[in-house]
Parts: sequence; structure tokens; C-alpha cells
Amino acid sequence: MRTRVLTGITTTGTPHLGNYAGAIRPAVQASKDPNVDAFYFMADYHALIKADDADRVAASRMKITATWLAAGLDPNTATIYRQSDIPEVPELMWLLTCVTAKGLLNRAHAYKAAVDRNVEQQEDPDAGVTAGLYMYPVLMAADILAFNANKVPVGRDQIQHIEMARDIAQRFNHVYGSDFFVLPEVHIEEQVATLPGLDGRKMSKSYDNMIPLFDGGSKAMREQIMKIVTDSRAPGEPKDTTDSALFTIFEAFASPAESTAFADALHGGLGWGEAKQVLFERIEAQVAPMREHYESLMSRPDDMEDILLAGAAKARAIAVPLLERLREAVGLRTFRNTAQSIAEPAAAAAPVSKAKPPRFASFREDDGSFRFRLFGADGEELLLSASFADPKAAGKLRQTLSTLGGAHAVIESQGDHVALRVHGEVVANGASHPDEVSRAAFVLRLRTALDALAAAQD
Ligand code: TRP
Repeated sequence: MRTRVLTGITTTGTPHLGNYAGAIRPAVQASKDPNVDAFYFMADYHALIKADDADRVAASRMKITATWLAAGLDPNTATIYRQSDIPEVPELMWLLTCVTAKGLLNRAHAYKAAVDRNVEQQEDPDAGVTAGLYMYPVLMAADILAFNANKVPVGRDQIQHIEMARDIAQRFNHVYGSDFFVLPEVHIEEQVATLPGLDGRKMSKSYDNMIPLFDGGSKAMREQIMKIVTDSRAPGEPKDTTDSALFTIFEAFASPAESTAFADALHGGLGWGEAKQVLFERIEAQVAPMREHYESLMSRPDDMEDILLAGAAKARAIAVPLLERLREAVGLRTFRNTAQSIAEPAAAAAPVSKAKPPRFASFREDDGSFRFRLFGADGEELLLSASFADPKAAGKLRQTLSTLGGAHAVIESQGDHVALRVHGEVVANGASHPDEVSRAAFVLRLRTALDALAAAQD
């Protein structure tokens, strides 16, 4: 199964070279792996916590979208969307809020730091602290859990948030008695470049030591590169590359062979001024084509809107059915099924019954092929498998379905019934349910049965 890799990009400010080398480039690279199902989104709800300038928020989410696309993120391979286009995210946030311990949020680093600062300055502990900042980790958990992401690549400062998301997911699974959520794992890119800024400290907006990626064009980029701090050795004197910000930045944009050649030149006395020009040309060779793409995207905001709305539709295809199950699980159920479920309990979306698991029944067709049916705990026929010439293939599929779990099942409508796909292939079909509501209820029962099967395995 493909690993769903999900990460959010807070849409404040504009990206610099350090963001590119440390986050954007590796994430775009990862999205090209055929085993990776990349979900990358603009965390624009999160951006509201840090900025109250509406025009800046609006501009930043456009620029950041254009940056990621220009950096090579392919919207056909990856799912790229704006958080605020997914109403299921804030909806899930509330469901999660209601199982989240307040004490957990009290321990969040960002909130604690704000309180500590206030206490230090002898202010009220909560002065200037919004509930948005306080709830930030729950919103982030919703971002991740709405799509049952397996891996979340983030910087070290975000590790605690992922741990909280796991905590909250576990709590919800426990309270409502089923494995609704996959527990996400944090992914820290160890070998990725952390770029130093002009002064040798980590490149960061807060240190004001950045080299812009696209903003200001090649002119601004060159100007900043010329400001990189070096030692005072004159041209002709051998230079030390070990603590050189200039050399470290070069390495992030060059092959090992190019870096060795550059180091040799510096050891051989290349002047810093010339070295900066070499560095500029090296970076510009990579950035120039992206900048052109970026500018073209920025001049076509309607196209970006279309791309993001298509991404949101892809993302919602996962979140909508999950939220349907969760609403059901917490008791926010349609009244419509209630009468039906009193009359015929079999049809109700029953909570997972651990006592009586669903069961398979295998049989042979007249033509000698092998198939099986899946029956719910109450005896309802849920699935009829495809037919297999080889009984082992049928057995393998039974095994797969036993461990799949409802959250992972790819179920789609096909005319008046639903089909279950595994590895892209339709492997089983459900009974006919001509109207949409009863089909949706059926899908719920099917997912519940798959959960029960998986639960019976462990
Ligand atoms: N908080 C993250 C950051 O500042 C951004 C973010 C929001 C995020 N939601 C997320 C990252 C979900 C990973 C998963 O970097």
C-alpha cells in the first residue's frame, strides 16, 4: 500500500532559500516516489493565528502555492490543496476537541512559551494569548487525521504536535471503540540541508539573514549573496571552508564533485568576492527556470485556483466518507435510519461488535473458479468477491480483507452498487442499493465490518 505522506505549509511570509533547500525541495522530491501518496496543503487556517493582516494572508497563500508548483510539485501526482477548502477539517477539529484533555494543550510548547513570556514580564499569564494559539495542536491533529496520514515530515519544532496528534487519535479510537484513525508518524529528514544565513546562523526570517528565493528577482538574490559574511582573508590567501556559510550554501546547490572543485579553488586562494559570484551563478542556474515558472503562475491566479480546487476535491474524497463514519460513531446520526433500524435491526449501522465478527463463506462456481462472500455480523451479505482460477489467490484476498480495516478500504459507487478496490483493482462488489442514502448506509456497515475483522486479528 502507498504511504500517505502529509504536511502543511503555514502561509505566512514568502519562502527563502533555506525553506527551499530544507523543506520544499525534499518534499517535492518525495512526492515523485511512486510509493508515496503526497498530501501537501496550504495551512491557511493556521496562518490566521499568526497574522491579522487579511491582504498579507491572501497574498502569501498565493505566493506559496506558486512557489511549490514552480518548484516542481505536480498536482496530478500529489494532492495539493488549501486547508480552508476542506470543511471536514474544522468539523473534525471539534470532534477531536471534545476528547482532548485541556491539560495536554497546557503543555504545548508554543502556548507555554507565550505564558512564560507574560509571567516574566509580570503580565497576566494569558495576556494576548488567543484561543486560536491554544487550539493550534488540535487543528493540526485534524489536518493529519482527516486523511489518515501515515507519515508527517516536519521540522524538529513540530515533533510535539505530531505526538499530540497521536495522543488525540488514540483517545478518540479508545472512546469510540474502533480504529478510526491511523496513528501518524513523525518524519524528520536527517540528511537535508539546514542552510546558514548571511551571518552564519540558521537562515530565518526572525534573524533577518535571508536570501530570498523568488522575491525581488535575481537582482535581490545576488545582492543578498554579496552580503554573506566571510573572514577577512585577501584574494590569494588560502581560505578555510569548514565554517564558511558561503561554502555550506554552495554545497546545498551543487554535486559533490562541484563542491570539491569549489573547495579546492578556495583552498587555493580564490577571493571571496569571486567566490560569491560563483555561488550566485550556481544558485541562479537552478532558480532561474523556477522563477520564470513562478512568475507565470502568479500572472494566472485563476489557473492556480482551479488546481487547488481540484486538489481539494481529491482530498475531500477521503475526508468526507471518514467524517460520515465519525459522525455516526459519535451519535450524530440521521433520523432517517432510526425507524428502519427498529423495524429491521440488520440494516442499522451497528457499532462494531467485537463478540460476533463478520465471516467469509467460500464457494466454487460451476466453471470451477473460486469466489467468496463476506457476511456482516448480523448475516447481511456485504460483498461478493471476483472469481479466481487459483484458490490461493482467493485466499490471499480474504486475508487482505481481514486486515484492511474500514479506514483503508477504497470503496466507490459503480451505478447502483459499490465496488471495493485493492491495489487499484476491483476485487469485490456489494449488493445493489439504488438510492444514494441506503448506499451510503451500506458503505458504513461495510467499513464497520472491515474494522471488526481487523480488530479480530489483533
Ligand atoms: N504547524 C506546521 C508548521 O508550522 C504547519 C502545519 C499545519 C502542519 N498543519 C500541519 C504540518 C499538519 C504537518 C501536518 O510548520
